[in-house]
Amino acid sequence: MITGGAGFIGSHVIRLFVNKYPDYRIVNVDSLTYAGNLENLSDIENKANYVFENADIKNEDQISAIFDQYHIDGVIHLAAESHVDRSISGPMEFALTNVVGTLNLLNIAKNKWADFEGKSFYHISTDEVYGSLSMDDPMFSETTAYDPRSPYSASKASSDHFVRAYFHTYGMPIKISNCSNNYGSHQFPEKLIPLVINNIVNKKDIPVYGKGDNIRDWLWVEDHAKAIDVIFHTGKNGETYNIGGLNEWTNLELVESMCDILDEKLGREKGENRKLITFVKDRLGHDKRYAIDATKIENDLNWKPSIEFEEGLEKTIDWYLNNQEWIENVTSGDYQKYYEEHYKGV
Ligand code: NAD
Ligand code: TYD
Repeated sequence: MITGGAGFIGSHVIRLFVNKYPDYRIVNVDSLTYAGNLENLSDIENKANYVFENADIKNEDQISAIFDQYHIDGVIHLAAESHVDRSISGPMEFALTNVVGTLNLLNIAKNKWADFEGKSFYHISTDEVYGSLSMDDPMFSETTAYDPRSPYSASKASSDHFVRAYFHTYGMPIKISNCSNNYGSHQFPEKLIPLVINNIVNKKDIPVYGKGDNIRDWLWVEDHAKAIDVIFHTGKNGETYNIGGLNEWTNLELVESMCDILDEKLGREKGENRKLITFVKDRLGHDKRYAIDATKIENDLNWKPSIEFEEGLEKTIDWYLNNQEWIENVTSGDYQKYYEEHYKGV
């Protein structure tokens, strides 16, 4: 069972597993919120080893029935509310999906699995649970104390604690990974990189929060999917693995670099897209810097990022330029309302 498989990262994980493991039956459990889109999986939806179940991770009856029907023996759990800005305006949904939903999954897995032999519950989390770094702090490691500061990261931290509690209390075979910011194809355009590309294409203002000096560590989403594969198959039960790109950028550097790449790709005059950059009111409680020390997964499981940021960013930009219809589909309807409300006055 892979939860959240119709979302950004989940769709890359499903694609990797369905293609790489023809002998597994992959059950994609997703309730298709605004962020879930089956179009993300159109290339593999007819494969014999893939099934989609429209179900809510909070719903005990639905999830129990799926465990029974497919004899689920492994869970990779990605379903979540994932956008920090939405968590600031509506934290309750984050507690319900991310905390209660995760607890519901854990509880059903524990009750359905008579013994834990050959079973695995792998929870996908974020580096944001560790809080915010200043410029000269060392990077987050697996032993950094949790210090979540947004409703999103608080809900993910809480779910991580429940997952660990099931290991210590019931001996459930769990794994957790905490990853830095992902980028790549199929990311919902409320997140920075696809939002900037979409606004540039449409010559709309590019909203940069505060001074644009917050720092994120960006990882190619397909490298995250590969790390998930490696951890699921070779990681140790009860362990946490940090996943990152060793790739820190200030938001402004990143946005400017996307503007320049797109000047060229769209045949615009040099510097034209930078004129769209608009500094807007900062995000409340905006975490300054995230950075991941990924030594453990590199040493223990032999994983490291496979591509350079420049290459990944260019591929990502090309994907959005070549898939305008995808963008149009996901930005119609509710997204317009969200955008107008959130970026009022921009
Ligand atoms: P996303 O918002 O693109 O996708 C989330 C998916 O979960 C959607 O398909 C949605 O329909 C589904 N979903 C939401 N609520 C559900 C529910 N109650 N029941 C069933 N399905 C539900 O998110 P993403 O960016 O792909 O993130 C996936 C996971 O990875 C999340 O757990 C997130 O916290 C974590 N993560 C994300 C990043 C990142 O940069 N995007 C980084 C580190 C960790
Ligand atoms: P985001 O993609 O929302 O990821 P996260 O908040 O989980 O790191 O944002 C990445 C960074 O970009 C973050 O520092 C906030 C900033 N940002 C903007 O400056 N403008 C925007 O419109 C958005 C969505 C984000």
